[in-house]
Amino acid sequence: MNKIAVIPGDGIGVEVTREAVNVLELLNKKFLLDLQLVQFDYGAEKYLKTGISMPKEQLEDFRHNYAAIFLGALGDARVPDMAHARDILFGMRFGLDQYVNLRPVKLFDERLCPLKGKTANDVDFVVFRENTEGLYVGTGGFFKKGTADEVAIQESVNTYKGVERIIRHAFEYAKARGLTKVTMSDKSNALRFEGDLWQRVFRQLGEEFPDIEKEHWYIDALAMQMIKRPEQFQVIVTNNMFGDIITDIGAQLQGGLGMAASGNINPNGVCMFEPVHGSAPKYAGKNVANPFGAILTAGLMLEHLGFQKQAQLIETAVRKAVKENKTTRDIGGTLGTAEAGSAVCEFLETLWSD
Ligand code: NAD
Ligand code: IPM
Ligand code: MN
Repeated sequence: MNKIAVIPGDGIGVEVTREAVNVLELLNKKFLLDLQLVQFDYGAEKYLKTGISMPKEQLEDFRHNYAAIFLGALGDARVPDMAHARDILFGMRFGLDQYVNLRPVKLFDERLCPLKGKTANDVDFVVFRENTEGLYVGTGGFFKKGTADEVAIQESVNTYKGVERIIRHAFEYAKARGLTKVTMSDKSNALRFEGDLWQRVFRQLGEEFPDIEKEHWYIDALAMQMIKRPEQFQVIVTNNMFGDIITDIGAQLQGGLGMAASGNINPNGVCMFEPVHGSAPKYAGKNVANPFGAILTAGLMLEHLGFQKQAQLIETAVRKAVKENKTTRDIGGTLGTAEAGSAVCEFLETLWSD
């Protein structure tokens, strides 16, 4: 049995997860995938009511008893410091050692791309964001907080092991798929120490992959190149903070945050899948959020579980929905979240009756 933990979370996370779950249940029934979806109510509401974000035992339960985790989104104005999200989101990314944040940037239809003259062939690459280190580790602190002399220190932690394993993953991904180039991006012209480590590891590992072209851009220039010539990229690997930023740029190249999928991967452990977007509070509860990012994320999860064919079906169905304008308003349609989700389910059904 494939037990899947489903955490809808906050805001639009709840609405888009509902649609992703409908798609998963439909495929489960049709293809007897033996998925068992188990819902969890972790999120701001529970945290505010009970003080519970996510108990430690829960992480152990996920680690030992689940095939994967699906997360909608977290974030609520009533928890301004994101305390609950830290425990839930970072709890999983760090606690389950999901060191690979896989974020595909794939344009389905040129109408969705804000760049003039770029087609689906031009925007098709993956970003590997390091997911357990860097500025996200939470080390640092305040000194003289609340005074005019206040100091706030946020440290960027980069370990040899951490840098090596994400860069290796990027090279191995490229090699396994017959891709010909890996681009590493850092800010080694200004951030000397972490930059030196990233540069050195990239060079060293590069020697193990002689058939793959090695390319480097400073992160500011990379951001510009993603807009100027996105077609040059196949695989990008970068640190946690830079990866966060450039994958929002990447999302927009695909039509916006509502279209972007991601996986938090531990190649030897349980993985967590979530759309790139957040809880979009201004859209919450209005049936307007685009569910396709979440649905495509469900596809990434199925692919990871070994259900390649079903993952492909999801992608094809979303493509059809985009092509025929059965979409939410953010990408030019007129449908609500639930209706756009249903459209994908209907396209799926036509795919296997063809
Ligand atoms: P956001 O991704 O929630 O929304 C930014 C904007 O993108 C929205 O206002 C909307 O215009 C658009 N958008 C996002 N998702 C969309 C969708 N599915 N359909 C249509 N449009 C969509 O980012 P934010 O406003 O910066 O953050 C809101 C909250 O979410 C914050 O608390 C933030 O910390 C949190 N957040 C959580 C995650 C996560 O759980 N993985 C990711 C990003 C942000
Ligand atoms: C993302 C989000 C998170 C991140 C936030 C909510 C902490 O922006 O998944 O991209 O920075 O990783
Ligand atoms: Mn982000």
